[in-house]
Amino acid sequence: MSVMRDEIFEQPEVIARLASRPEAYRAAAGEARAAGARFVLYAARGTSDNAAVYGKYLATIVAGLPAGLAVPSAATVYDAAIDFRECLVIGISQSGVTPDVTEYVAQARERGAFTVAITNDEGSRLAGAAHRVLATGAGLERAVAATKTYTSQLAALALFWAEWTGDGTVPEMMSAAVPQAMTAALSLESRAVELAGRLRAAERLLVTSRGYNYATALETALKLKETSYVAAMPYSAADLMHGPIAVVEPAYPVLAFAPAGRTQAGMLETIAELGRRGADVSVVTQAGTAAPGATAVLELPQELPEALSPLAAILPGQLFACHLALARGLDPDRPRGLNKVTRTY
Ligand code: F6R
Repeated sequence: MSVMRDEIFEQPEVIARLASRPEAYRAAAGEARAAGARFVLYAARGTSDNAAVYGKYLATIVAGLPAGLAVPSAATVYDAAIDFRECLVIGISQSGVTPDVTEYVAQARERGAFTVAITNDEGSRLAGAAHRVLATGAGLERAVAATKTYTSQLAALALFWAEWTGDGTVPEMMSAAVPQAMTAALSLESRAVELAGRLRAAERLLVTSRGYNYATALETALKLKETSYVAAMPYSAADLMHGPIAVVEPAYPVLAFAPAGRTQAGMLETIAELGRRGADVSVVTQAGTAAPGATAVLELPQELPEALSPLAAILPGQLFACHLALARGLDPDRPRGLNKVTRTY
């Protein structure tokens, strides 16, 4: 059908394989702690930047460290002399060759940061620039739209921060419960096909979630833009309420992610408000959750702790993007005008 779809279905296996090699995570987390890192910055672009958003929540909530996204142009365009002492800088790039990400990590290392690279190519320039490399081992990704490398980056981040805090439950879950929940989530393909059929002519779409799954909203919206050319706008549900919700008029299509966890009650309130405004809201949530105001509910069959839920919640989003492209007569493997590697400086 498409390479993108094949790679979407490879993901449970990729994650189980990654979880079987925990040593690199232990070593990297141990060295970063010993280096005295107190602040965390992520440098990444595109899908990898969406994984970085997830990493930002993990570092802040799990490890209690202030964390944010880097400003690559500060180093590569503005020549800012940044003081990176006490910083942990994590560069994330599937290819490992995105120039501004690589350059940022190299400069951060020179200026006092402890640096870690998360990449699918251990021999890449990014890997060479960092103190430590966490290889995602997803295998060659042939589709232009990143899918399996995204979830492998999420898994690498979850394992790294679990090692930082000494939480043994995460590596254990990553090798069994997470791949199982992902396999179960892939059974939502027929629902994703239905949704794609219903929204085939949509030109715009709001995608929303909150907390750890804000990354899921960002990444689903990116996949929809790349493969189906739909103007998909991602918002944290909190930001949505602060103004953008004004765009919603009757039948406005919305995709909301509300997996189980601390953010779910707030997400359900947002969904109810969108429903009151007449939006056409499709919701990805936990099996058995009532979502008043929703037009369609895609039920994730297995529950994961909220911090790991983005690994399964993204799968219906990826499937929807792939099938929306197919429903529109587009080739999800050949997004117009895009290449696998984009060189930004
Ligand atoms: C999205 C996609 C791009 C890449 C971006 C960064 O599907 O493929 O957005 O994620 O070009 O690439 P890497 O991760 O190689 O730095």
